[in-house]
Amino acid sequence: MAEEADDLPVLACPHCGQAFHRVPHGVICPSGHAFDQAKEGYFNLLPGGRLPSSSTSGDTAESLQARRRFLHADWYQPIAQALRNALGTHVGPILDVGCGEGWYLSQLESPQKFGLDISKRAVQMASKLIPNAQFIVGTAHRLPILNESCDAVFTVFAPHSHSEYLRVLRPGGRWVTVTPGPQHLHEMRPKKDPSIEERERRRSEPPQESQQAERVTFSLSLSIDAAHDLFSMTPLRWQTAADAAPVTSVTADVWVSWGTSL
Ligand SMILES: C[S@@+](CC[C@H](N)C(=O)[O-])C[C@H]1O[C@@H](n2cnc3c(N)ncnc32)[C@H](O)[C@@H]1O
Ligand SMILES: [Zn+2]
Repeated sequence: MAEEADDLPVLACPHCGQAFHRVPHGVICPSGHAFDQAKEGYFNLLPGGRLPSSSTSGDTAESLQARRRFLHADWYQPIAQALRNALGTHVGPILDVGCGEGWYLSQLESPQKFGLDISKRAVQMASKLIPNAQFIVGTAHRLPILNESCDAVFTVFAPHSHSEYLRVLRPGGRWVTVTPGPQHLHEMRPKKDPSIEERERRRSEPPQESQQAERVTFSLSLSIDAAHDLFSMTPLRWQTAADAAPVTSVTADVWVSWGTSL
């Protein structure tokens, strides 16, 4: 007889959306879809268990390590502070969509933390960082999360779906996104990029779904090592010639946007 997964109040079967029951090595839904729990504690809830390599995020082990070093040196603490303010206090489940290696979730006070990312490597790192949080390998576009199960859901610099936010939030629940503003890391961008103007225009307003938004801007005087890490952890590394030296004086410029589900 399977036990109720009382400690997994938000997870849903990615095939049929039903709640799970615990079995000895993992979980099973009422339709018999079973998933093992990894030794680090996370669940891989991608339908089929894996993605074709063409649809993975492109985050290498090196870029994940660069992000871990950069974030854990607290350079983006003003972003974490604005995220904490926008989220408010919650006792129920809080979900980080596109959690990466877990730093933002580690910066929050919450008794029930959940993190989801499409990268298994990132989820492994996050699981070791926050052993008392539950991590999931899954996709932001179809969250393996029960309807109306979360007090809050947020995303920092990662793909997310507002319709999925509204589905998984309980009534009155809060969603928050952190997205780049028009000047974000502009010093590190190639100067002759023809898409700069269009991108700055698009980012000059917060996302249209937001009910409220705060623009957070601050200057960073980075060490050379931190500048290398920032360069390696952002998509900029794909846009700039490999021999370009990373600059150490950079502007962080982000929109912290939020809304409440009805
Ligand atoms: C720029 S990183 C940001 C990670 C983390 N939020 C942070 O700021 O440190 C983007 C993250 O989104 C994840 N990602 C990309 N596509 C995704 C998808 N469809 N569903 C869930 N996560 C996704 C990547 O694996 C990566 O960890
Ligand atoms: Zn199922």
